[in-house]
Amino acid sequence: MEQLAFDDSLRTGFETIDEQHALFLSMLTDLAAQIEAGHHRQGVLDAFQGMKLYADGHFSDEEALMEAREYPRLPAHRQLHEAFRSMVMEFENRLGEGVGLVSLETLEYLGSWFIRHIRDEDMRFAAFARKGEDRST
Ligand SMILES: [Fe+2]
Ligand SMILES: [Fe+2]
Repeated sequence: MEQLAFDDSLRTGFETIDEQHALFLSMLTDLAAQIEAGHHRQGVLDAFQGMKLYADGHFSDEEALMEAREYPRLPAHRQLHEAFRSMVMEFENRLGEGVGLVSLETLEYLGSWFIRHIRDEDMRFAAFARKGEDRST
């Protein structure tokens, strides 16, 4: 499995957000390890659902923060979160039909999407928020 670890290059400077990003990626890695180890269906399904709930919570927290900072790109950002949610839902349905249908490639895909999203989009918000803070000092 490709490296999906959190590192300093992914830090937005918002501690809660950074912690959530790191934890989400480690949940994904754990899930991949479970699948690799051939864990039983219910365990994988539970871990997948945990990951999904966690992503949901993270997206809501992030959107609330963006709203509080009056981030103008929030609608577009929200759409990206929505796209991730739909992807996860589709994978979950497939998982419900059989664990074999969700491969490590699937998780890698979700993980690289998430990392790319942090790098390109969450960071863009962080830069915007930093500018606002500069102005207020
Ligand atoms: Fe995020
Ligand atoms: Fe985001």
